[in-house]
Amino acid sequence: MTLSTAAPATAWFSRPAARTWTCAPAPAEVAAFHANLPGYAPTPLTEVPALAAELGVERVFVKDESARLGLPAFKILGASWGVHQALRHAARRPERLVTATDGNHGRAVAALARAHGLPARVFVPSGVHPAARAAIEAEGAEVVETNASYDEAVRRAAADPGLLVQDTAWPGYEEVPRWIVEGYSTLFTEIDAQLNAAGAAPAGLVAVPVGVGSLAQAAVTHYRATSTGSTVLSVEPETAACVLASLTEGRPVTVPDGSTIMAGLNCATPSTLAWPYLRDGLDAAVAVSDDDTARAARDLASHGIPAGPCGAASLAGVRAALTEDRRADLAPAATVVLLSTEGTTANPAL
Ligand SMILES: Cc1ncc(COP(=O)(O)O)c(C=O)c1O
Repeated sequence: MTLSTAAPATAWFSRPAARTWTCAPAPAEVAAFHANLPGYAPTPLTEVPALAAELGVERVFVKDESARLGLPAFKILGASWGVHQALRHAARRPERLVTATDGNHGRAVAALARAHGLPARVFVPSGVHPAARAAIEAEGAEVVETNASYDEAVRRAAADPGLLVQDTAWPGYEEVPRWIVEGYSTLFTEIDAQLNAAGAAPAGLVAVPVGVGSLAQAAVTHYRATSTGSTVLSVEPETAACVLASLTEGRPVTVPDGSTIMAGLNCATPSTLAWPYLRDGLDAAVAVSDDDTARAARDLASHGIPAGPCGAASLAGVRAALTEDRRADLAPAATVVLLSTEGTTANPAL
């Protein structure tokens, strides 16, 4: 995490050459691991014809992560495989699990620590909603308020002697984040099967809410390992668009700390593990405002989908990407998939 600081970037980046880039897929055993977890079921992929009409595409589906293995976000997919692998590879049983979080990842790690009979310590940055903090505590974890940025909370967690289960990477800390990214692959294998069952074309445009870029790395890995020609779009808050800024500059940069209702996306520095995948394999990146995301959350709610601010960012991002001037940069997409990565939150701004 010794990256330089950049001014806020422009709100759009595209790279058509990304579609021809290829990489190896995530290990096939991950989906089987999740399928064996108690309470596992694929989350819904809900078709919303009204959004297809609005966006001028054939079909729009929303992957609704509001109820995933008992938690209201996708994060436990990565944390469960990450903790499983980290404990399997650890020389001895750790004193506790440790992480830093904007909310969802920490709650997942806390729940997993409890399931494994271990204590958990979770460092939170300033700006995390009290309800998110209370939810982590309700899983039995100790919450450490840092009154600092997300990056600083990660530094504090990394200094703790417990077993660090962090969903972002930096030089020298890449093994656990790699497992966490592998864990996210199940979300995409579910989508493939669900589109197929719905008689839809493979995902043409996939919108991914982005914080440090680990979920987007999993998306790029999935779609570039197969020859679906899918377009992967990253969506960030205007006030924390570190991936957009990094793509624009052609190197990983840290953006100034900002605030946003999209708490889980409020990250200033891309994961070093994700960066090469995003640089080479991401088709486009866009930044959206809190207002646009709040409107998207209300619209999704009117279609029966309980999306929190991070989850609704996907719809706000696709609306911003499929404008007349920008959609020419993207491959034509019959099927659009919006990742709604969390359920409704206690945020009063929505
Ligand atoms: C609900 C939600 N969506 C998306 C993300 C972004 O994931 P990443 O940080 O891997 O880019 C997060 C991260 O915490 C999140 O909580």
